[in-house]
Amino acid sequence: MMTPIELSQAKFEEHFGYKAEKIVFAPGRVNIIGEHTDYNDGFVMPCAINYGMAVSFTKRDDSIFRVYAIDIDKTDAFDLTKPIPQSEDKWKNYVRGVVKYIQERCPSFIQGADIAMTSDVPMSSGLSSSAALEISIGKTCQVLGNLEISLTEIALIGQKAENKFVGANCGNMDQLTSALGQKDHLVMIDCRSLDITPTPVPQGYSIAIINSNVKHDLVTGEYNSRRQECETAAQFFGVKALRDVSLEQFAERAEELKALNELAYKRAKHVITENNRVLDAVKALKANDMQTLGRLMAESHDSMRDDFEITIPEIDYLVELAQVAIGKNGGARMTGGGFGGCIVCLVPNEKVEDVRKLIAENYEKQTGIKETFYVCTACDGARLI
Ligand code: GLA
Repeated sequence: MMTPIELSQAKFEEHFGYKAEKIVFAPGRVNIIGEHTDYNDGFVMPCAINYGMAVSFTKRDDSIFRVYAIDIDKTDAFDLTKPIPQSEDKWKNYVRGVVKYIQERCPSFIQGADIAMTSDVPMSSGLSSSAALEISIGKTCQVLGNLEISLTEIALIGQKAENKFVGANCGNMDQLTSALGQKDHLVMIDCRSLDITPTPVPQGYSIAIINSNVKHDLVTGEYNSRRQECETAAQFFGVKALRDVSLEQFAERAEELKALNELAYKRAKHVITENNRVLDAVKALKANDMQTLGRLMAESHDSMRDDFEITIPEIDYLVELAQVAIGKNGGARMTGGGFGGCIVCLVPNEKVEDVRKLIAENYEKQTGIKETFYVCTACDGARLI
């Protein structure tokens, strides 16, 4: 099978009738711990993965952006000297939105291009196929226009495009990871200061991802209501974001909040404990204490299931199976926004096959759905190939 890079080159030539000059790649991501903390100004610890979006492109001598979306065999075209309008087609808005906000930041950018893009990140599965698309387009614009714009800025532009142009109210974790991931490292991101602390993937461990292949159509509504409940809780504590509430401060007023608004209490409990788990996970990784890391991942999953209420039975079952196969060192939890999608495991290399086997023997039997199993590596963020 061709890699996305090879496929984007081949399809570019087939579609446009000549060879592409350049290729950009932007990865998807998997989050090891720190879920629904990014929009609470908190901490996350994901890594960029070796699945992503490849964009082959060549400068044109006019200001037209011609886009070929290989995977759905659809095209778009728009002129960079005119206001960029929203489209009825959602996929187009990712591209148009990023270009629009790049132009807002760099008003002289009107360089047209022919572009062919393809991705091997499964869609709607919690591995940030959208961020990979946004960041690959942002990076492509940077190269095309020779723009003085940092990868952090590209990440925030990608987030803005998704928030304001596509209409999905995500935080900044996915875009920052796709832009700034580091090979062989997990990146702990402070989603308020945007500081990044890289920590090596533990020696002798693999990152396994298992896709439940369950997609939930209520995701956007559920995501937005969680955000609102977190804001309500932040207001109760009189702070800008739940990041500003310590475990002690939470404990002091927990009963009061619970009596007033039980949902806000549960959501806050998840976010505040999860932020602490991320910080503890960094320490555990530094100390090579994989038992503690496994415990933190298990607690994170329980908290997403019981307090944030974003897991589904299929996902809980996958995590249970993975935890049994992994044993004490390493762990498993749901990853991403929730309501289906994937689980992530940090698993000793010699146990990867045990995890694969136990899940293959049981998951489909129990749920009627076949899982997809990936072993992935931690990779660098967006780059010109
Ligand atoms: C989605 C969003 C992210 C983040 C996660 C949950 O992936 O895009 O910003 O909120 O959900 O951690």
